[in-house]
Amino acid sequence: MKHSPVLEKQIQPEKPRRRTFFAWLWGILLSVAFLEIGWVVGTIFKSRKQREETKRALHLVEAGMIQNYEPGTVSAVPEGQFYMCCLNDGSFIALSRNCTHLGCSVPWDEKKQTFVCPCHGSTFDQTGKVLTPPAIRPLDYFPVRIENGLLRVDISTPLKRQAFDPSQTVRM
Ligand code: FES
Repeated sequence: MKHSPVLEKQIQPEKPRRRTFFAWLWGILLSVAFLEIGWVVGTIFKSRKQREETKRALHLVEAGMIQNYEPGTVSAVPEGQFYMCCLNDGSFIALSRNCTHLGCSVPWDEKKQTFVCPCHGSTFDQTGKVLTPPAIRPLDYFPVRIENGLLRVDISTPLKRQAFDPSQTVRM
């Protein structure tokens, strides 16, 4: 049976070249979309990691080289609001300057070799241990790391304790 030329044109299947072109186009568009999604997700994770690193770096205070400290000395580190204590055995502990009674700032008394709180008279020794109440807990301390002889103190969170323990100190 022979169709008319008009009918023959209507029932002619779509040309394969055209279909292939659209398949390629869709493939490219989908690839671009997946690449963009991957880039956005990667950027979010990367910026979160960078923010955490920046935050950590902001909380790290350099307290100088260990050779600058004499055993049995206490040095204020104003930028970190703590004291770096080099104990008699050469180990280090970073003490918060806030009294554990009601939070007053506690100065170091060089003559008495103790921290003396001006508010209610609590005293603490070089390790932060309570010598005189009303404070009942030792001064809080901060984690210290020694990197190539440099003391680095993480001031993000003061650590509370019930007593002094040598594990709270670091040494070279
Ligand atoms: S705040 Fe230091 S003794 Fe009360």
